[in-house]
Amino acid sequence: MGIKIKGCGYYVPELVASNEDFSKIVDTSDEWITTRTGIKTRHIANGELAYQMGANAAMKAIKDAGIELSDIDMIIGTTVTADCLTPSMACLVGKELGIEKAMCFDVNAACAGYVFALDIAHKYLACGDCKNILIVSSEIVSRMVDYTDRSTCVLFGDGAAATVVSYSDGEYKSYINSDPQGADKIFAKIPSTPNPFRTQTPDWSDERMQEAPELFMQMAGNDVYKFATTIMPEAVKKASEKAGWETADLDIIIPHQANIRIVQTAIKKLKLPEDKFYINIQEYGNISSACIPLALSQLKEMGKLESGKKVCLVGFGAGLTYGAAVFEY
Ligand code: ACO
Repeated sequence: MGIKIKGCGYYVPELVASNEDFSKIVDTSDEWITTRTGIKTRHIANGELAYQMGANAAMKAIKDAGIELSDIDMIIGTTVTADCLTPSMACLVGKELGIEKAMCFDVNAACAGYVFALDIAHKYLACGDCKNILIVSSEIVSRMVDYTDRSTCVLFGDGAAATVVSYSDGEYKSYINSDPQGADKIFAKIPSTPNPFRTQTPDWSDERMQEAPELFMQMAGNDVYKFATTIMPEAVKKASEKAGWETADLDIIIPHQANIRIVQTAIKKLKLPEDKFYINIQEYGNISSACIPLALSQLKEMGKLESGKKVCLVGFGAGLTYGAAVFEY
């Protein structure tokens, strides 16, 4: 059994920062950012909270799906930049929407979060426990970005996207994994709170993590680059194989939007036409788990997601997490 993306919606903050804006705060240039990453602008939350952006996107997705709030059995939030340590962003979105009964929880799988959430949704739909699942991906990556570090700050943006997913008879297969040995390649530590009883300071077993400042994201960019260019084509191939498809059978591939050069390398390795890949990194940068559903939402808006199209979503991120899902739209 497969999945049906019944409804889509997205929200991006109005505030936009261009490459020129970045060249005023760090030693960088439009030329460097464009050629090394493909990014031109990114949206930055300017007072919005992640759950509010998520609820905005969710309302649009629910309207697009043509269902009632009471039809939603489950809300899966995907975020690495939630507003609260607890409750989950999914609960906060549910509260904002006025939902009174649904299984709400968050998935933290970084930029692969939407692919992980979709796979969980598929399992709950397949066993018949749920009929409509709302996946809300919302990220304020700017809240953990160090705007004095030129090697990371130019890459990320904020935004939200939501989908309503239900059962279909079509094909769905996934290949999802993580390499926890790469946990120190991208991380952001939660700041400690003062405590009158504590006498010891935390001692991380990983030296890199021990030494890093709290809050700000740390990234070993080159290692992540090598990892991403290897696992993206591999995940697309493995998920397609599980469905009994050739990668050439895929009509639309939505890759996580971290760096245009990563996508271009994947295109070369897969030997597929470039126009099968949807790319919007130039406008949004890397919005972590919201990238893939935002792209889905835009493709639907453009009328490019016709019934029966073979779609592949492929993501990777901190963890290190990675995975691809293929399905008939
Ligand atoms: N402007 C100008 N120069 C810069 C900038 C910048 N914004 N950033 C780095 N540089 C410099 C470096 O300091 C370095 O200078 P040096 O040679 O004098 O030391 C030079 O440019 C080259 O640096 P590299 O790191 O080798 O540049 P590279 O071409 O590899 O690009 C990048 C770096 C963009 C970070 C790349 O490695 C990348 O995209 N990595 C993957 C990141 C990623 O995918 N993250 C996704 C997961 S995030 C998540 O899950 C939340």
